[in-house]
Amino acid sequence: MTISLKSADEIEKMRIAGGLASSVLTMVEPHVRAGVSTDQLDRICHEYIIEELDAVPAPLNYRGFPRSICTSINHVVCHGIPGNKRLRNGDIINIDITVIKDEFHGDTSKMFCVGKPSVRARRLVDTTYECLVLGINMVKPGTRLGDIGHAIQSYAEARQFSVVQEYCGHGIGRQFHEDPQVLHYGIPGTGLVLEAGMTFTIEPMINAGKRHVKLLPDNWTVVTKDHSLSAQWEHTILVTSDGFEVLTRRPEETFSLGP
Ligand code: MF3
Ligand code: CO
Ligand code: CO
Repeated sequence: MTISLKSADEIEKMRIAGGLASSVLTMVEPHVRAGVSTDQLDRICHEYIIEELDAVPAPLNYRGFPRSICTSINHVVCHGIPGNKRLRNGDIINIDITVIKDEFHGDTSKMFCVGKPSVRARRLVDTTYECLVLGINMVKPGTRLGDIGHAIQSYAEARQFSVVQEYCGHGIGRQFHEDPQVLHYGIPGTGLVLEAGMTFTIEPMINAGKRHVKLLPDNWTVVTKDHSLSAQWEHTILVTSDGFEVLTRRPEETFSLGP
């Protein structure tokens, strides 16, 4: 496993790429409404990334992925391919944005609620965000990846939800997916020890039912085996000398814990 520590120059480029990725989620929010198709959302983001941000949508043609964003609705866990399906009142949808700017990647996703989702869906979406914030708050030199995974898993399972194990966060930089793998479950005191200058994503996928998933025949779309709802939020994080910097933070986010 070779983990690149980013230089000050590289960190500044990651900060810029992260900021651009986060701006796409802010931009697309008013478009995420009942009746819109996921292809329309893809088109809106694609145009914005290329024309307004002068950046590259990393998913497009990545290992053959056919669109510029991932859109994962309801029981879709991740890597949903935009298509002609239209959003309906009560849907929950993850939109995952990765941009490349000046050779560096920024990767972030969030959940959107369409109209009025069920209490259970709302609770899943909120709990999954809390899992992400909990994980982010543990990031500092000396923390181990198993500590982060354990914190996320304990929080989700205490609420009777389950953690997807087949997909994980990842190092990020010049490459979309770098070492290390950042699991969202684990054992405290185990795994990689964090050091200042590491950049990676945390992106927990949490299911309302059992943790098991299956890959659809399109070879991208991952769904829950039991068809239960699934939620995911993602940020790109930098380990600093005394904690963390969220490179994909949106203006409304604080990452403070507690009620
Ligand atoms: N953005 C996803 C992640 O968080 C990866 C998507 S790969 C794609 O790692 F090809 F589906 F875009
Ligand atoms: Co990612
Ligand atoms: Co992503």
